[in-house]
Amino acid sequence: MQNIYLKQMEIGPMQNFQYFIGCQRTRQIAVVDPAWDMERLLSEAENDELEIRHILLTHGHPDHMEGAAELSRRLEIPVYISENEAPFYMPHIQRLRHIIDGQKIPIGKVELQCIATPGHTPGCMCFRIGNILLTGDTLFIDGCGRCDLPGGDPQRMYDTLYHVIKRLPDDLIIYPGHSYGPSSFCTLGKQKQTNPYLTCKSKKDFLEHRMGY
Ligand SMILES: [Fe+2]
Repeated sequence: MQNIYLKQMEIGPMQNFQYFIGCQRTRQIAVVDPAWDMERLLSEAENDELEIRHILLTHGHPDHMEGAAELSRRLEIPVYISENEAPFYMPHIQRLRHIIDGQKIPIGKVELQCIATPGHTPGCMCFRIGNILLTGDTLFIDGCGRCDLPGGDPQRMYDTLYHVIKRLPDDLIIYPGHSYGPSSFCTLGKQKQTNPYLTCKSKKDFLEHRMGY
Protein backbone atom coordinates (compact mmCIF):
# COMPACT_ATOMS: atom_id res chain seq x y z
CA MET A 1 0.00 0.00 0.00
CA GLN A 2 1.68 3.16 -1.19
CA ASN A 3 0.11 5.62 1.21
CA ILE A 4 0.85 3.71 4.41
CA TYR A 5 3.65 4.75 6.73
CA LEU A 6 5.07 2.03 8.99
CA LYS A 7 8.08 2.03 11.25
CA GLN A 8 9.02 -0.89 13.47
CA MET A 9 11.25 -0.12 16.47
CA GLU A 10 12.71 -2.75 18.79
CA ILE A 11 13.08 -1.16 22.19
CA GLY A 12 13.44 -1.98 25.90
CA PRO A 13 14.77 -4.99 27.79
CA MET A 14 11.96 -7.39 26.77
CA GLN A 15 12.47 -7.38 22.99
CA ASN A 16 9.34 -5.31 22.45
CA PHE A 17 8.41 -3.83 19.13
CA GLN A 18 6.81 -0.39 19.17
CA TYR A 19 5.32 0.94 15.94
CA PHE A 20 4.48 4.10 14.11
CA ILE A 21 1.66 3.43 11.68
CA GLY A 22 -0.38 5.85 9.62
CA CYS A 23 -0.56 8.00 6.53
CA GLN A 24 2.49 8.58 4.38
CA ARG A 25 0.95 11.59 2.63
CA THR A 26 -0.28 13.61 5.61
CA ARG A 27 2.45 12.29 7.97
CA GLN A 28 -0.21 11.72 10.63
CA ILE A 29 0.40 8.54 12.58
CA ALA A 30 -0.55 6.46 15.59
CA VAL A 31 1.96 5.03 18.04
CA VAL A 32 1.24 1.41 18.88
CA ASP A 33 2.26 0.06 22.30
CA PRO A 34 4.48 2.84 23.66
CA ALA A 35 6.14 1.46 26.78
CA TRP A 36 9.80 2.30 26.60
CA ASP A 37 11.80 5.47 26.06
CA MET A 38 9.33 8.20 25.13
CA GLU A 39 12.19 10.61 24.36
CA ARG A 40 13.39 8.27 21.62
CA LEU A 41 9.87 7.90 20.23
CA LEU A 42 9.39 11.67 20.13
CA SER A 43 12.73 12.28 18.45
CA GLU A 44 12.09 9.50 15.90
CA ALA A 45 8.76 11.17 15.08
CA GLU A 46 10.40 14.57 14.78
CA ASN A 47 13.20 13.26 12.56
CA ASP A 48 10.66 11.67 10.23
CA GLU A 49 8.46 14.79 10.32
CA LEU A 50 5.51 12.87 11.74
CA GLU A 51 2.55 14.13 13.70
CA ILE A 52 1.48 11.64 16.40
CA ARG A 53 -2.33 11.78 16.60
CA HIS A 54 -3.30 8.63 18.50
CA ILE A 55 -1.95 6.01 20.86
CA LEU A 56 -3.15 2.45 20.28
CA LEU A 57 -2.68 -0.38 22.76
CA THR A 58 -2.82 -4.01 21.63
CA HIS A 59 -3.45 -4.91 25.29
CA GLY A 60 -2.82 -3.70 28.81
CA HIS A 61 0.37 -5.47 29.85
CA PRO A 62 2.92 -2.99 31.20
CA ASP A 63 5.57 -3.78 28.57
CA HIS A 64 3.09 -2.52 25.96
CA MET A 65 1.56 0.50 27.66
CA GLU A 66 3.83 1.88 30.35
CA GLY A 67 4.62 5.05 28.35
CA ALA A 68 1.06 5.72 27.15
CA ALA A 69 0.03 7.99 30.05
CA GLU A 70 3.07 10.22 29.67
CA LEU A 71 2.78 10.42 25.89
CA SER A 72 -0.94 11.12 26.06
CA ARG A 73 -0.38 13.89 28.58
CA ARG A 74 2.50 15.50 26.73
CA LEU A 75 0.87 15.41 23.28
CA GLU A 76 -2.75 15.77 24.50
CA ILE A 77 -3.89 12.83 22.39
CA PRO A 78 -6.25 9.90 23.10
CA VAL A 79 -5.27 6.35 24.02
CA TYR A 80 -7.34 3.52 22.56
CA ILE A 81 -7.73 0.09 24.17
CA SER A 82 -10.36 -2.64 23.92
CA GLU A 83 -13.36 -2.21 26.16
CA ASN A 84 -12.91 -5.89 27.00
CA GLU A 85 -9.47 -5.59 28.51
CA ALA A 86 -9.32 -7.00 32.04
CA PRO A 87 -10.05 -4.31 34.65
CA PHE A 88 -6.71 -4.99 36.32
CA TYR A 89 -4.87 -4.25 33.05
CA MET A 90 -6.90 -1.14 32.20
CA PRO A 91 -4.58 1.89 32.25
CA HIS A 92 -5.54 4.89 34.36
CA ILE A 93 -5.33 7.59 31.73
CA GLN A 94 -7.48 10.66 31.44
CA ARG A 95 -7.88 10.49 27.65
CA LEU A 96 -8.65 6.75 27.50
CA ARG A 97 -11.06 5.65 24.73
CA HIS A 98 -12.58 2.19 24.53
CA ILE A 99 -12.61 0.40 21.19
CA ILE A 100 -14.59 -2.59 19.92
CA ASP A 101 -14.14 -5.33 17.34
CA GLY A 102 -14.49 -4.01 13.81
CA GLN A 103 -14.09 -0.36 14.78
CA LYS A 104 -12.36 1.82 12.21
CA ILE A 105 -10.02 4.62 13.20
CA PRO A 106 -9.05 7.14 10.51
CA ILE A 107 -5.41 8.24 10.54
CA GLY A 108 -4.77 10.94 7.97
CA LYS A 109 -6.13 9.53 4.70
CA VAL A 110 -5.89 5.87 5.70
CA GLU A 111 -8.14 3.80 7.91
CA LEU A 112 -7.10 1.38 10.61
CA GLN A 113 -9.32 -1.53 11.56
CA CYS A 114 -9.50 -3.04 15.06
CA ILE A 115 -9.80 -6.83 15.24
CA ALA A 116 -10.59 -8.42 18.62
CA THR A 117 -8.24 -11.32 19.35
CA PRO A 118 -8.76 -12.43 22.98
CA GLY A 119 -6.67 -15.17 24.56
CA HIS A 120 -3.40 -13.69 25.76
CA THR A 121 -5.57 -11.20 27.66
CA PRO A 122 -9.34 -10.65 27.42
CA GLY A 123 -8.90 -7.38 25.54
CA CYS A 124 -6.20 -8.16 23.00
CA MET A 125 -6.64 -6.32 19.71
CA CYS A 126 -4.87 -6.63 16.39
CA PHE A 127 -4.71 -3.57 14.15
CA ARG A 128 -4.92 -3.77 10.37
CA ILE A 129 -4.18 -1.21 7.70
CA GLY A 130 -4.15 -2.51 4.14
CA ASN A 131 -2.01 -5.64 4.09
CA ILE A 132 -0.29 -4.85 7.40
CA LEU A 133 -1.43 -6.60 10.58
CA LEU A 134 0.00 -5.58 13.94
CA THR A 135 -0.55 -8.59 16.17
CA GLY A 136 0.75 -7.55 19.60
CA ASP A 137 1.16 -10.62 21.80
CA THR A 138 -1.48 -12.63 19.95
CA LEU A 139 0.79 -13.92 17.20
CA PHE A 140 4.57 -13.86 17.03
CA ILE A 141 6.69 -15.04 14.11
CA ASP A 142 6.63 -18.80 14.68
CA GLY A 143 5.06 -18.34 18.11
CA CYS A 144 2.04 -17.00 20.00
CA GLY A 145 1.40 -15.21 23.27
CA ARG A 146 1.30 -17.16 26.52
CA CYS A 147 -2.07 -17.88 28.04
CA ASP A 148 -1.12 -18.63 31.65
CA LEU A 149 -0.98 -15.03 32.93
CA PRO A 150 -3.97 -13.49 34.78
CA GLY A 151 -6.85 -13.07 32.33
CA GLY A 152 -5.27 -15.42 29.80
CA ASP A 153 -7.44 -18.14 28.28
CA PRO A 154 -6.00 -20.83 25.99
CA GLN A 155 -9.45 -21.89 24.71
CA ARG A 156 -10.14 -18.33 23.56
CA MET A 157 -6.65 -18.12 22.08
CA TYR A 158 -7.40 -21.22 20.04
CA ASP A 159 -10.61 -19.67 18.73
CA THR A 160 -8.77 -16.43 17.94
CA LEU A 161 -5.95 -18.15 16.06
CA TYR A 162 -8.03 -20.70 14.19
CA HIS A 163 -11.29 -18.79 13.61
CA VAL A 164 -10.07 -15.20 13.28
CA ILE A 165 -6.38 -15.03 12.35
CA LYS A 166 -6.26 -18.08 10.07
CA ARG A 167 -9.24 -16.78 8.10
CA LEU A 168 -7.41 -13.59 7.15
CA PRO A 169 -5.71 -13.37 3.73
CA ASP A 170 -2.34 -15.05 3.17
CA ASP A 171 -0.76 -11.88 1.80
CA LEU A 172 -1.13 -9.98 5.08
CA ILE A 173 2.22 -9.12 6.61
CA ILE A 174 2.42 -9.90 10.31
CA TYR A 175 4.22 -7.40 12.54
CA PRO A 176 4.34 -8.83 16.09
CA GLY A 177 4.66 -7.22 19.51
CA HIS A 178 7.98 -8.87 20.35
CA SER A 179 11.12 -9.79 18.46
CA TYR A 180 10.98 -13.44 19.47
CA GLY A 181 11.04 -15.09 16.05
CA PRO A 182 13.51 -15.82 13.28
CA SER A 183 12.48 -12.59 11.48
CA SER A 184 10.87 -9.32 12.50
CA PHE A 185 7.90 -9.74 10.12
CA CYS A 186 6.44 -12.44 7.89
CA THR A 187 3.47 -13.09 5.63
CA LEU A 188 0.49 -14.75 7.25
CA GLY A 189 0.57 -17.32 4.43
CA LYS A 190 4.02 -18.47 5.53
CA GLN A 191 2.99 -18.42 9.19
CA LYS A 192 0.07 -20.71 8.35
CA GLN A 193 2.72 -23.22 7.25
CA THR A 194 5.52 -22.75 9.78
CA ASN A 195 4.01 -21.42 13.01
CA PRO A 196 3.61 -24.36 15.42
CA TYR A 197 0.57 -22.68 17.00
CA LEU A 198 -1.21 -22.31 13.66
CA THR A 199 -0.55 -25.85 12.49
CA CYS A 200 -2.07 -27.91 15.31
CA LYS A 201 -4.25 -30.81 14.20
CA SER A 202 -6.96 -30.14 16.80
CA LYS A 203 -7.93 -27.92 19.71
CA LYS A 204 -6.65 -30.63 22.07
CA ASP A 205 -3.34 -30.63 20.23
CA PHE A 206 -3.14 -26.81 20.58
CA LEU A 207 -3.95 -26.86 24.31
CA GLU A 208 -1.32 -29.54 24.92
CA HIS A 209 1.22 -27.61 22.97
CA ARG A 210 0.44 -24.21 24.55
CA MET A 211 -0.30 -25.23 28.14
CA GLY A 212 1.23 -28.67 28.53
CA TYR A 213 -2.06 -30.50 29.17
FE1 LIG B 1 1.50 -9.29 26.85
